[in-house]
Amino acid sequence: MRTSSVTKPTVVVVAPEERSEKLLRLLNIYDDDRIVYTSFEQGAAGRTLGRRTLLSPTSIDFKSVEHVLISSFDVFQEYPDIHSELASRGFPREKVTSIFQPHQTLLTLERLFGFPYKSNRDLAQAIIFNDVFERLNYAYGAILAVEQARRLDLAGVTLVETGVWTGRGLRNLCEWASVLRHTFDLDVQVSGFDTGAGLPKCTDWRDHPELWQEGEMVMPDLNLLRSQLPSFCTLEIGDVAETVPRYLQQSNLKSRPIGFFALDVDLYTSSVDALKLLEGHPETLLPAVGIWIDDSYVNVMQNNFCGEALAIAEYNHRNHLRKIDPKKVRPNHQPMLWHYCFAFAHIFDHPVRQGQRPSALIGFNHCDY
Ligand SMILES: C[S@@+](CC[C@H](N)C(=O)[O-])C[C@H]1O[C@@H](n2cnc3c(N)ncnc32)[C@H](O)[C@@H]1O
Repeated sequence: MRTSSVTKPTVVVVAPEERSEKLLRLLNIYDDDRIVYTSFEQGAAGRTLGRRTLLSPTSIDFKSVEHVLISSFDVFQEYPDIHSELASRGFPREKVTSIFQPHQTLLTLERLFGFPYKSNRDLAQAIIFNDVFERLNYAYGAILAVEQARRLDLAGVTLVETGVWTGRGLRNLCEWASVLRHTFDLDVQVSGFDTGAGLPKCTDWRDHPELWQEGEMVMPDLNLLRSQLPSFCTLEIGDVAETVPRYLQQSNLKSRPIGFFALDVDLYTSSVDALKLLEGHPETLLPAVGIWIDDSYVNVMQNNFCGEALAIAEYNHRNHLRKIDPKKVRPNHQPMLWHYCFAFAHIFDHPVRQGQRPSALIGFNHCDY
């Protein structure tokens, strides 16, 4: 154990777990002794993880440290305790990333250790397949969209999140878009939709009034969020009933079709309007659009006759040549809840599915990602 003397590492992994191990192995830097593990949790020093021992934070000279990676899961992605511990050691916040920031993390590690990241599609596929960063539902949907666009020889693709709230999901989706822009050399655009003012009023029982209240989940700071988003991301503020038709007319979707869609507006009525994004001209969509459906029956009260599921059933009823079909993805992985919350919108009126355009979709298998 190296807990008594002072160590001068380049990278510190805080709160490491199995995923950070996998990441370092994938990057071939697992045995590099410029990387150390620590935790600010009482009594964690001395614990082992793989071949590594967690050092006491007091034994680390943070002045030598170039980068801190926070590796534990935190649903709110804030890590207040870890940040205050780092601040008390004078460590600058801009040198800290977390497992919710795959692109920022990979860029820094590439700079420090020199592995090939740019144009390395295999690396993107491996980090997503091996689940080493967070939100995998977004990562998975994003890589399937990008891979499909690449196979169809498109210049780019658009990833959409309906329901943004704090923007943590949208920022994470932008991180994944950055990873894929960097590795697939495709123009990946992102759009987020939200009222900014929280949930609209429930209309009737179909909106789950027993679960949702008007004005819940107000966006905390719209200007701050805007300033944190990259230039390839747009934020469409207003009720989706109004923003979606406008967006379909104005945006450049034919050259960057929608390829991934996160449905997270909670109410049935909002979901009906959000799903109109999948009702534009066939070439504004990829032939199969991945959808992550937030509800997917997590709460006992959720069912096929209310909420997002009812909106999907009505979409299928309304659209003769477009069908949203739930699919249990990743049968070759340890089961996770989101594997059961995935679907594809099959766009049968897309020229590729009408046999009007060659495609390279044979061998495009959902379990390879
Ligand atoms: C559960 S939150 C989204 C969380 C976010 N996707 C994440 O993972 O971080 C749901 C959001 O949907 C938004 N929303 C609900 N109905 C809407 C509508 N009709 N138009 C626009 N936004 C709506 C609400 O403002 C709320 O912030």
